[in-house]
Amino acid sequence: MRVAMIGTGYVGLVSGACFSDFGHEVICVDKDESKIEALKRGEIPIYEPGLDVLVNGNMRVGRLSFTSDLATAVPDADAVFIAVGTPSRRGDGHADLSYVFAAAQEIAPLLKDYTVVVTKSTVPVGTGDEVERLIRETAPDAAFDVASNPEFLREGSAIEDFKRPDRVVVGTTSERARDVMRELYRPLFLRETPMVMTNRQTSELIKYAGNAFLATKITFINEMADICEKVDANIQDVAKGIGLDGRIGKLFLHAGPGYGGSCFPKDTLALVKTAEDVGAPTKIVNSVVEVNADRKKRMATKIIEAAGGSVDGKKIAVLGVTFKPNTDDMRDSPSLDIIPILQEKGATIRAFDPAGMEEAGRLLPGVDWCENAYDTIAGADILVILTEWNEFRALQWDRVADAMPGRLVVDLRNIYFPHEVARQGFTYHSIGRSP
Ligand code: UGA
Repeated sequence: MRVAMIGTGYVGLVSGACFSDFGHEVICVDKDESKIEALKRGEIPIYEPGLDVLVNGNMRVGRLSFTSDLATAVPDADAVFIAVGTPSRRGDGHADLSYVFAAAQEIAPLLKDYTVVVTKSTVPVGTGDEVERLIRETAPDAAFDVASNPEFLREGSAIEDFKRPDRVVVGTTSERARDVMRELYRPLFLRETPMVMTNRQTSELIKYAGNAFLATKITFINEMADICEKVDANIQDVAKGIGLDGRIGKLFLHAGPGYGGSCFPKDTLALVKTAEDVGAPTKIVNSVVEVNADRKKRMATKIIEAAGGSVDGKKIAVLGVTFKPNTDDMRDSPSLDIIPILQEKGATIRAFDPAGMEEAGRLLPGVDWCENAYDTIAGADILVILTEWNEFRALQWDRVADAMPGRLVVDLRNIYFPHEVARQGFTYHSIGRSP
């Protein structure tokens, strides 16, 4: 099959590279010429383990190429994927669909033979209808179907998630379009990956419902962690104790500083807006949005309280600033809420992140960026763990003790056993567990 992938962001680039690895001929298109030139040289604009090898390998054998010219990619494609950004619209929280609609309008005059236009971007219910209308308006005689095919990959494990998904969701009632989609996902189909074939609206809603449910699960366990702290209970045992019930499931029950990233915050907000618009408001998702936003800020208070009520004049070492490990993504990261509050309260921040410092440097002024974990800790009064990168999971506590004069550790990701840190003479605060 021949595929045109419009948008070389996270979803577009990973999906394009993986489809080419499935044996399809993929051309990735992006308006950003400098990005395309870099990709042609084999330079990957995002941090994603394994993507470099995948992109370069498939480019070498000629299955994957890059262009900034839609006319090179669209006319011969069996499927044209729209994988452009749908950020939150400034001011109202709705998904901004201007890039999706612009792509639809630009594709329309280039369609030749029968083509399936697929929305892979996360788009609100009804967007497929509008994409179809826009294409039909510009190209009344074109032979095409519009299908929805949401993507469920996670940053940091994107390739594995794409190649071994729990399911593939396809929204279209056209048999012809379904055949094309089945052929595209043939390797997964053969491995008996479940395929949910449904209509477009349902497929679009599945994406939002999935992300909102996961965000709810995290927010729920975070609230349980707050209760644990008050009653001397242990959140990890609570998560295990409920998660082993197959109806609940043990994944996504890791309590922390609140969810961040490019998806959960914007998608939960957009779902709230859609629900309001259609007259079926969702109180649950609305609460999740509010509770999570509040939690990220409250984490600064937690650190201040652990420090005895003030961080004025304190040196705080922060390990990890990205919203989760194995990514350089800073979008809606809890660190963006927590660090400025600590600075405002008079603390000096030294920080280190294995991949996020370039972007973080722009977003978090006044932070002293360090070379590695131990360099960051040197001279600190308080050590705060904000992101659970693997390299922070095995700190040598005797080295930490030598490097920092303070004896306070606040671990917002629960990556240590309280007694092992306490044994080294530190006061250790974590999430939902007694110090
Ligand atoms: C999320 C979904 O997991 C993907 O399925 C989806 O495709 C993607 O959004 C998207 O819509 O594009 P992602 O944002 O990459 O993926 O990252 P997650 O691993 O889901 O983590 C999101 C946030 O939740 C992070 O801040 C993480 O620290 C937090 N989290 C996750 C917890 O606090 N506890 C958990 O148990 C799991």
